[in-house]
Parts: sequence; structure tokens; C-alpha cells
Amino acid sequence: MIYVTRREVFSASHRLHNPELSDEENTELFGKCNSPNWHGHNYTLEVVVAGDPDPKSGYVIDLSVLKKIIQENVTSKLDHRNLNLDVDFMKGKITSSENLVVEIWKQLAGKIPSGNLYSIKLYETENNYVEYKGE
Ligand code: NI
Repeated sequence: MIYVTRREVFSASHRLHNPELSDEENTELFGKCNSPNWHGHNYTLEVVVAGDPDPKSGYVIDLSVLKKIIQENVTSKLDHRNLNLDVDFMKGKITSSENLVVEIWKQLAGKIPSGNLYSIKLYETENNYVEYKGE
């Protein structure tokens, strides 16, 4: 089994806020991430596809194809957007990296033409990332 990774980057703004909590509870829970005037991150996304190389091409997946799928289904919808306001698949959700990586998985599931979607890592900063494997 070979694991092939494509890295993409995007920049987006957001605010961590739970509308079911009071302003005081939101401040207590999220601190400066609850700031009403938004803040931004330069996110890095790593999409891993697992499979056996095709005997004809030697590829698990053509990385130029994977790049296009990620750009069309994910980064074009997130880059330079406000995750709370502009992104259909984040409507009504707290815009944590945890929730975002699950929704990114759903955007890519079923769209990978060869190999299997294995994992997605989402870096919010150099030091903080989440990983999701679909369950
Ligand atoms: Ni943030």
C-alpha cells in the first residue's frame, strides 16, 4: 500500500462562537478566538490517498488530478473567505479545525478517481493540526 499526499494552502477568517451560549460563556470558552471582529489563519491541508500503483501509469493517483479535485471542491470555496459567513458547508457549525476537517472530508468523499481517501490533515498554525480518517 502506497500513501500519496497532496498539500494545498488557503487563507481564511473566522470566529469561534457558539450561539447557544451567552457572550460571557463564549468569551470564557474561546478567549480571543471569540473576538467579534474575526481573525485569520493561513491553513495548510494535506490530503492522503492510499492504494496500489496502477501497472500502466505507476501512479496510485495522478497528483495533478488530485490537486484539481482539492482546488475545485475545497480550497476555491475556502480561500480568502469568512468561514462563518461565506462557506455553505460550514453554515450553522462552530468553525473549529475539528469541524472544518470533517466537512472537508465530506467535500472530497466519493470524488477520488483512484485509490482511497485515507486521511486529511488540517494545520491551523505550524504547531497545531487535526487529522481525520473518515470515522
Ligand atoms: Ni482561529
